[in-house]
Amino acid sequence: MKKEDYWYIAAEDHELPKNQVISRSILGEWLAIFRDESGKISALQDKCLHRTAQLSKGRVVEGKLQCPYHGWTYNTSGEVVKIPSMGPQHKPGGKCAKSYEVIEKEGYIYVRLSQHKNQLSPFSMPCHKMKGYTTIRLQNLFKNNVTNCAENFVDIPHTTFVHPKIFRDAKNEHFGATVRRENGSVKVIYKNEKKNFGWFSFFLNPSGKEIFHTDEFFAPNVTSVHYKFGGGYHFIITSQSIPLNDDETLVYTDLTYNYGIWTKISRPLVHWQAQTIIDQDVEILNNQMKTIKKYGAHFQNSPADIIHTWIESLQEEIEEGRDPALLPVRETEIEFWV
Ligand code: FES
Ligand SMILES: [Fe+2]
Repeated sequence: MKKEDYWYIAAEDHELPKNQVISRSILGEWLAIFRDESGKISALQDKCLHRTAQLSKGRVVEGKLQCPYHGWTYNTSGEVVKIPSMGPQHKPGGKCAKSYEVIEKEGYIYVRLSQHKNQLSPFSMPCHKMKGYTTIRLQNLFKNNVTNCAENFVDIPHTTFVHPKIFRDAKNEHFGATVRRENGSVKVIYKNEKKNFGWFSFFLNPSGKEIFHTDEFFAPNVTSVHYKFGGGYHFIITSQSIPLNDDETLVYTDLTYNYGIWTKISRPLVHWQAQTIIDQDVEILNNQMKTIKKYGAHFQNSPADIIHTWIESLQEEIEEGRDPALLPVRETEIEFWV
């Protein structure tokens, strides 16, 4: 298994209307992604076969992508169908730009870079369009790599330092958790979590009952955090971290939640709170990568970091070209204070 074998989000579907082209980067590969008039999407390497102008700077004419330099024109399979300087009768034939598989799913456009077929499919966003739920969709650029971003999204200890007041205040509360690595994923099930949610605890969990909280990481780039509160409210934060290159990650975040009768009306507040928290994470993660570039990534761990070391173990398997799902199942109990 290689990084290129997985599906990565290239855009939200509304970012690519019919007869438009957009430019994207995934794993350092430049893509010109365009949609024809029937709605079909094509992802081509963003480089004209003729003199390598960027195709994404061109335009879509009658459903075909026209290079901005001399007008060579490509259909959705990447074939050159027209060379204007050769006249209207000329049939180019046999010239084909590198193209990639595309899938549209749940409002996202996914691209897969590897050329050989496999059984993988894009991640399914939990409770997407489910009755009673709403979704707020965010995009944020982190100047850091996918693994450090994903670790942050399932990291409890930083929350009291990076997000005091708005997320968690340090209260020396004792948490337990079961951590399980299985089938290319790491799942954490928290125990004893009751009320440490900043100023909105009184709304989400007024009874102070135990909160059902799980964090999951799915190799190579997805995290999903679930909170279920006493009153039946359910909040899910799912993040797909897209490697634009080695040290820039575009994170697509779905906040999907059901707050009963408050679901719709609370959208502006939920949006503001989440974006504020993410802005704080962007700052600390950008700072982390600056230091890594200067001094290298030499990490030390405490016992509470087992979640991260198991995430890293899955990522290392992919780096080595192996299937992370084949690593042996492991489970342990951890505890920490926040
Ligand atoms: S470089 Fe694209 S048509 Fe010449
Ligand atoms: Fe955070």
